[in-house]
Amino acid sequence: MSILSKKILVTCAFPYANGSIHLGHLLEHIQADIWVRYNRMRGHQVYFICADDAHGTAVMLKSKKQNISPEELISNIYQKHKYDFLNFNISYDNYYSTHSKENYDLVKKIFSILSRKNHIKEDVIHQLYDTEENIFLPDRFVKGFCPICKSGDQYGDHCETCGAIYAAKDLIKPISVLSKSIPILRTSIHLFFDLPFFSNMLKKWIFSGILQDSVLNKTKEWFRVGLKKWDISRDKPYFGFQIPNYLNKYFYVWLDAPMGYISTFKNLCKKRIDLDFHEFWNKDSTCELYHFIGKDIIYFHTLFWPAILEAIGFRKPTKIFVHGYVTMHGNKLSKSKNSFMLASDWLKNFDSDSLRYYYACKLSDKIQDIEFDIQKLVKKVNTDIVNKVVNLASRSASFINKIFYGKLAGKLIDMKFYMEFVSASKDIEKYFINRQFSLAIKKIMKFSDIANKYINDQKPWILGKEKYDQLHMISSMGINLFRVIMTWLKPVVPSLAERSEFFLKTILTWDGIKNPLLQHKINNFTILYKRIDINKIKL
Ligand code: MSP
Ligand code: ZN
Repeated sequence: MSILSKKILVTCAFPYANGSIHLGHLLEHIQADIWVRYNRMRGHQVYFICADDAHGTAVMLKSKKQNISPEELISNIYQKHKYDFLNFNISYDNYYSTHSKENYDLVKKIFSILSRKNHIKEDVIHQLYDTEENIFLPDRFVKGFCPICKSGDQYGDHCETCGAIYAAKDLIKPISVLSKSIPILRTSIHLFFDLPFFSNMLKKWIFSGILQDSVLNKTKEWFRVGLKKWDISRDKPYFGFQIPNYLNKYFYVWLDAPMGYISTFKNLCKKRIDLDFHEFWNKDSTCELYHFIGKDIIYFHTLFWPAILEAIGFRKPTKIFVHGYVTMHGNKLSKSKNSFMLASDWLKNFDSDSLRYYYACKLSDKIQDIEFDIQKLVKKVNTDIVNKVVNLASRSASFINKIFYGKLAGKLIDMKFYMEFVSASKDIEKYFINRQFSLAIKKIMKFSDIANKYINDQKPWILGKEKYDQLHMISSMGINLFRVIMTWLKPVVPSLAERSEFFLKTILTWDGIKNPLLQHKINNFTILYKRIDINKIKL
């Protein structure tokens, strides 16, 4: 490990354990995984973790519907989620669950610190209650007319028509989504985390360069309105952790979920004895901590989470990386009408690299949404991966394999030309580090075009027997340029990179390309990537 090697902990937001992983979720895991793989290639010690977010009303109700216990539901879903991420080559060091002993122990410990420091307050709330189902209704389980613009069929937290934010109890003519009955207003004592106490610290913290500009602006808006106490408890029936010394009260799922970042890492430390938990989480830790999240959960990560970390004397995140939504026809992709929208369905027709490559072409450091277009994906993958990258290998390999017994030439025909490629790494490095993946891909494709043009111009196929040497050198150049390009693409398309490594009989490393492969034996070329035929796919 070099002296400049950093220790980095990276997280993705925990998917809820009440549904399948879809292409929308995958954007985040792919974005983070590309970044992680790139950093690992550069010699950093990266620990990449995630978990299922197992608690909450939605999980409870879903298990009831399926006639199984919530524990059984989350364990089924956990297996599926884990498998989905594995199949997309998301290189987690640990994929855990918030419903774990480590997490409950941690949550209790944190709660007791918060209570001792007087950051927990009690207050009476008035909440809609379904008397048929005997349950307090979360905002998403009530519908009614918007109190501001009066449009119908609106959820209990905000109005889709006018954008107003309100409390469910202010809805006009509310009905319960669960039983369709009219809920009544009931009081209950809830526990609150004293977020306003941390206002000054947070104000300073959000300006310290951890957030993208647009995320900072959003966060600033919340300060303008003023921070409010945060309700961290829920009444029975609820699936979650019980609050010690409170009868029939549970921690709100959003309290124990972020703490899962810590407990999932703690669980990893049990398996990797070289890891020092405190080195990563102490207040003065020099390790870096990055959270990849979507734009819908900014509030939790830029306000609640750092406030809690401050309260318990832990370190705060180095940066929070926010991305936009994957949309289809302009709508946030959630559950699918299309047959390929679930991670598992995608793999029935396509490979994982195709999606990873497409997202890389679209991703930037901004929080703009990404419109998913299957036709464009197919075109992009076929044009770039098949026609440009793999083609470069296949056209050069045919000579090397057939005429030169698989052996590359002893020297490069044009070192200066080769070094132009190697020098382009500088820009590509910058793009990867800054999460400007679309720019990285553009640059890589530019160089793929240059490489193919080189072969076109040199026309090795017309070189006859008397020009064997030249034929050898030009095809060897083609193979070496392919190696450079695949090294750059390795974080994006790991499966293709693995097949390329087998073909080239070498491991692709970032620094390795400084030295071209000379007098090196490669394997016979076999098809590295199959062109996607959209007509053969039932969409
Ligand atoms: N369980 C919480 C996160 C807790 S983190 C301590 C949650 N779960 S989620 O399943 O709804 O979303 C998980 C992540 O997926 C979020 O970052 C969310 O923004 C992201 N996405 C869900 N649908 C998405 C798209 N259609 N597009 C892009 N990202 C999406 O929130
Ligand atoms: Zn409205």
